[in-house]
Amino acid sequence: MTSRIYILLLLALTFSSCNLTTSPKVGALGDHAMVVSAHPLSTAVGLNVLKQGGNAIDAAVATQFALAVVYPRAGNIGGGGFSVIRLTDGSIAALDFREKAPAQAERKMFQDSLGNVVGELSTIGHLAAGVPGSVAGMWELHQKYGSLPWADLVQPAIDLAFEGFLITANEAEALNEKQEDFRQANHYRPWVVRENGWQANDYVNQPQLAATLSFIRDSGRDGFYKGIVAQQIVKEMQRGNGLVTHEDLQNYEAIWRAPLVGTYRGHRVISMPPPSSGGVAVLQMLQGAELLNVGRYEHNSTNAVHLMAEIERRVFADRSKHLGDPDYFQVPVQQLLSPDYNASRFADISIDQTTPSTDIQGGEVPYESPETTHFSIVDADGNAISTTTTLNLNYGCKVWVKGAGFVLNNEMDDFSSKPGVPNFFGLIGAEANAIAPGKRMLSSMTPTIVEKDGALKMVLGSPGGATILTSVFQTVLNVIDYEMTMQEAVSAKKVHHQWLPDQIKAETDAISLKTIEELEQLGHSFEFVDKIGRNDCILVREDGRLEGGADPRGDDKAAGF
Ligand code: GLY
Repeated sequence: MTSRIYILLLLALTFSSCNLTTSPKVGALGDHAMVVSAHPLSTAVGLNVLKQGGNAIDAAVATQFALAVVYPRAGNIGGGGFSVIRLTDGSIAALDFREKAPAQAERKMFQDSLGNVVGELSTIGHLAAGVPGSVAGMWELHQKYGSLPWADLVQPAIDLAFEGFLITANEAEALNEKQEDFRQANHYRPWVVRENGWQANDYVNQPQLAATLSFIRDSGRDGFYKGIVAQQIVKEMQRGNGLVTHEDLQNYEAIWRAPLVGTYRGHRVISMPPPSSGGVAVLQMLQGAELLNVGRYEHNSTNAVHLMAEIERRVFADRSKHLGDPDYFQVPVQQLLSPDYNASRFADISIDQTTPSTDIQGGEVPYESPETTHFSIVDADGNAISTTTTLNLNYGCKVWVKGAGFVLNNEMDDFSSKPGVPNFFGLIGAEANAIAPGKRMLSSMTPTIVEKDGALKMVLGSPGGATILTSVFQTVLNVIDYEMTMQEAVSAKKVHHQWLPDQIKAETDAISLKTIEELEQLGHSFEFVDKIGRNDCILVREDGRLEGGADPRGDDKAAGF
């Protein structure tokens, strides 16, 4: 596709895109295949691959590289993520391409001499970067499942980077918000820094990123982890006292892990195991929702919100104490998912009383960024992939690798810099998630697939840091209990409780004034926010058609055929 076509397409999609108030009842429909991602252009790239006969995994690889170009705040080659796959024969797989701590990382690297956490060290600048996993992840996915040539899947991103595209109003706003951070983190002026700020429809081309992607196109994973791009990364690290070395890059491996499988009201739910907390937490929450029959209460009613908050605070307490990289810490996954454990975990929940979070044992809690990205894809054969990737905060650590045109993650902040001290997302971690060389930091990313009667039913996921867990949880309930369309389920206003701080975070208008008053009488307090989650999901409807639910909170786009 030429740049002119991309620009026209973007303009058309921009003007036709929905917002929260005009979100349609039913999302995009397709008889054969569907792509839902954070940007119209990455969706167009993925869809084009499917139309050329590529499978869902081919489309995922192309979508991921396109996101690195058109959605630089979270789409990435300098970050990492997870994919959950279900093939049409029913086989399932999970790939972990999470970033990891460099070999020189130390447990107290973000603490000063008095043992206080120096906040910005783990969020802005070179030290915040973990060893990137995304390119290794895409390579591994393609090696195992790809059907089209690798080069054909990277090329659309190169075209987009080289020929350019028009940025959306949301991207302009996100870029403008971070101008000061970009200046602080870089010793030169990367393209994102602009004297008079950014506006919607400003034209961006990224020839350096196009060159980096060309190395990846021609040499696969080695085009990133070895050679010129690796040299550029290591030089950048040396300029800013970062820790990532050539050995770290060459030693990085994506890891196939056994997916977690649970059930919810007759459905089979397949999700991501540690080092994501996503699968464990969502499967625990679904057990709680089934035990307490949350779905019998009206959507976002007093009882429904109260019960969800009570379930969530217990699950987050478990998360903070027990979850971390399973290669470094014995994570009691089977125990946390056992029906007996959860029956007793949720047994003291009362419909007319809150349990203060101080009465619930857990570890201690860290903050996590809402600025990740998710895409869901189903191909014409029924293969499905759910992928969530991240730089952690918007534009990661804000360091653009000089000459290579891409930004590095600040995923080191997802470790517990000091057990007991909250990270950016207010999440507290314990020993399980302490920093160690080569260790993967705990994540909340929750790529998830749901089956009914042995057939594909939903492909789900969201960005949102800690709110990923509760967004995916609510989207499942919205479809299964509240019988919403996929579009309604993703558009529906969301609420969130993460144990600490002890409050319900709610989107403005998520719950009525009367419900707020009733919840306050029960002892809940509130924080109101603009947006929770950005679910990009697919539903296989009863009539067999695919419905894509693109979250109207962003520029997200579903398209099928
Ligand atoms: N950095 C967000 C996450 O991994 O959940």
